[in-house]
Order: sequence, then structure tokens, then C-alpha cells
Amino acid sequence: MTDTATLILDGKEHQLPLVVGTEGERAVDIQTLRNNTGYVTLDPGYANTASCESAITFIDGEKGLLHYRGIPIEQFAAHPNFVEVSWLLIFGRLPTMREYTEFAHDLNAHANLDESMKHIFQGFPRSAPPMAILSAMINGLSCFHPELMELEDKTQFRRAAARLISKIRTIAAYAYRHSLGKPYIYPDPNLRYVPNFLHMMFSQPYEPYYCDEDVRDAVNLLLILHADHEQNCSTSTVRMVGSSQANLFASCAAGVCALWGPRHGGANVEVLHMLEQIHAGQITPEEYVAMAKDKESKVRLMGFGHRVYKNFDPRAKMLAKVAERLLRDRGKNDPLLNIARKLEEIALEDPYFVERKLYPNVDFYSGIIMRAIGIPTSMFTVMFAIGRLPGWIAHWWEQNQEAGGMIARPRQVYTGNNSTDYLLMERR
Ligand code: CMC
Repeated sequence: MTDTATLILDGKEHQLPLVVGTEGERAVDIQTLRNNTGYVTLDPGYANTASCESAITFIDGEKGLLHYRGIPIEQFAAHPNFVEVSWLLIFGRLPTMREYTEFAHDLNAHANLDESMKHIFQGFPRSAPPMAILSAMINGLSCFHPELMELEDKTQFRRAAARLISKIRTIAAYAYRHSLGKPYIYPDPNLRYVPNFLHMMFSQPYEPYYCDEDVRDAVNLLLILHADHEQNCSTSTVRMVGSSQANLFASCAAGVCALWGPRHGGANVEVLHMLEQIHAGQITPEEYVAMAKDKESKVRLMGFGHRVYKNFDPRAKMLAKVAERLLRDRGKNDPLLNIARKLEEIALEDPYFVERKLYPNVDFYSGIIMRAIGIPTSMFTVMFAIGRLPGWIAHWWEQNQEAGGMIARPRQVYTGNNSTDYLLMERR
């Protein structure tokens, strides 16, 4: 294979270097294109643009593969441990026993929020969307931890990462309790990451919540499967904000906002609404699929399709199994799972979805798992954010460590008015 690409512009040849990733992905390096030719590239939605080189996560969308630091995600199913995977993503390898214990200890030691943050919670209306509270409070952490605004070395970074991963679940649980007007439940230092979160969500004062192993494992796996997905919309946002050298808290708060949208993390809420609508008999699965194919309707089959996967999303396959197992083991039969299965069956045989390579994505089955555990729909995207946080942190740090890191600043092709003169108000 050659190591340059030849581009002919205005009859003149230009050589552009090729870059090959460790899994054989090929890219044309256009960094010098504008300086050398005056041309920029146009790529709306960055669908064909590699915005960086990254060693964190690999996706092969054609084959339906997802690896974290080289490890296929299927391998985490046998021993789901979100804290361990967080370490892996952020620091590049699996932790030793000592590193793991120290990190887990750090997470427990910093789970409490500064007491005055409670007043901020109280200022929000009960009906405030939890994603708005989450973003505001993560940003607010910079006010309470000014010493972690500038991270000078790896030790300081590790402290900031641990605080953020620990406190996000406290913030999430408090946001939920606030929406119900229930007392906040303090973190319990004796509990591990997931049981502690569920305790803060569901315990009542003097009445602890019992988290069984199946639920603990299901939530760990759910968080792991959301933990990173290379340059998705929210991670790219975190990198974009971080590229201005904004601090870790501010960058991750921006990631929460990007995740909120229904085309990204907010899709898990929309999936549930779709399934409930069908369950309530307002529309049949066949009618819903027909509507999703009709461009006039502006409706999409939520939880279907992906920018990168043109095959089964491996996360959806795993989550479908978890949903089934969790319900079966509890002797429950959630009609929404049957509806989801039916929609999947119809769509996978429909030429519209087949031709466009639209398959169930991570959001298609995750809501059914969360429902089975008692997590309300309003908290679904918050759960996604808790899971995605280590990925955001890993990308923020990776970018931060790059020598001579550049501020993210795309170009555009201007299509507005040509140069014109200001007109006085009375002459318009
Ligand atoms: N239902 C119906 N049609 C769809 C769907 C869908 N879910 N997804 C894509 N299409 C059609 C789309 O209308 C277009 O058709 P045409 O070529 O005739 O114009 C074609 O498929 C390509 O769609 P696109 O919007 O150009 O594809 P994209 O790569 O820009 O969008 C997506 C990816 C995830 C935004 C999109 O598939 C979608 O909106 N899905 C539903 C929302 C959803 O489930 N989002 C969660 C994504 S996974 C988790 C995450 O990243 O947060």
C-alpha cells in the first residue's frame, strides 16, 4: 500500500499522507490541505471525519465489534465490574488488585457532596429535568473543588476522576429524590459502587434497600455497556470543550447536555414512550414501523439505527439477554419486552430497514432493564450519563496529554449574503 494519497485540484497534484490505525483503519491526513491548496473539506455531521487519533475504544461498525482498550465487551459479561472498567478506560489497562482497591476506596471516600450543594438542589423546581440538574451540578463541582480545576499531574487527575465518578451517582440520586420530595439518603461507605447508588436512590431513612446480586450485576453491565463509544456526540462535545482547556467538570457537564438529545442518550426515554404508546393500544407495532418509514411523519423507530453500526450493535444483543434473564428470574413478564421483540422482528424483515442497515442499538432494550429494577423513565438518560462518564474522562485526559494539543475549531463553507453595506433604519 502507498503511504500517500494523490489529490488533483485545479489540475495540480497534491500528496496527502495516509494514516493507518492499529486495527487497519485508514485515513487521509488533510491537515495541510488548506495551507497548500486553499481548499477545505466539507463533511456535515463529521460523518467521514476522524477528529483525532485515540487508543481508548475500537468499533468495527460493519462487523458489530466493540473493544475497550482492546478487550471485546462481551468479555465483561462474566464478571461485570463498572469500577474496574472505568479504570481500564481511563488509565489504559486493567488495574492491579492494589490499584483497584485504592480507586474503589477513593470512590467511597468522596461520595458525599458538600452540604451546601443541597441548597442548590432545593432551588430547582420538583419538575426540573434530572439531566438539567445533573449538568448544572457537575459544573457546580468546580466551585467546590477549585484545587482540581487545573490538573498538573496524573495523581491530581486521578483524584479529580475519582471524585467525579463517585459524586455523579450521588448527584443523580439526589436529583431523583428531589423530584419526589423525599429526604436525601447519604452514601454508605460500606457499600460498593452500584449498591451504594441504588441505596441512595431507593432506601428510606431507617429502611435500607436490599440489592440482590442479579440486580447489582445487571446494573454494572448496563453501565459498562454505556461506558465509552469513541467519538460519539457527547464525547466529541467533551473533547471540544476540553480543547479550550476548560476544566474536567465543565467539559463533562457539557457532555451531559449533548447526551440529553433524543437522537443520542435521550433515545432510551423515547423508546419507552414508543413501547408504552403501543402497549396502550394507541398504535400497533406494524403501524408504528409504517409511520417510521414515512418521511412526512418525522417519526423514527427509536432505539434503531446508528451512525457507526451497519450491523447489530453488540451492546443491544447483550442487553436484550440481560432484560430477558432479569425478568425471567423474577418471574415477571413485562409486556413491553414482547412489544420490543415484535418491533425488532418486523423491522429486521422490512426492506426499508434492511437496505439502510438499521438495527437495534444500545437504547432499544436498556429501558426494559431499568424498568425491571424500578428506575423511572425520567432517570434513564441520567443512567446513560453515569455509565458514559469514565469514557468522557478518558477522552478528556487523552486529549489533554497530547503534545501541542489544538483547540477544536472547524471551518465552514459560507453561503450567506455577499459583502453588503449597513443601511440606516429609516431607509430599510
Ligand atoms: N427510523 C427510521 N428511519 C431511520 C432511523 C430510524 N430509527 N434511523 C435512520 N433512519 C433512516 C433515515 O431517515 C435515513 O433515510 P434516508 O436515507 O431515506 O434519508 C437513513 O436511515 C440514514 O439515517 P441518518 O439519520 O442519515 O443516519 P445517521 O447516521 O445520521 O443517524 C441515528 C444515526 C442514531 C441518529 C439515527 O439512526 C436515529 O435517529 N435513530 C433513532 C434515535 C436513536 O435510537 N438514537 C440512539 C443512537 S445509539 C445511542 C447513542 O449514540 O446515544
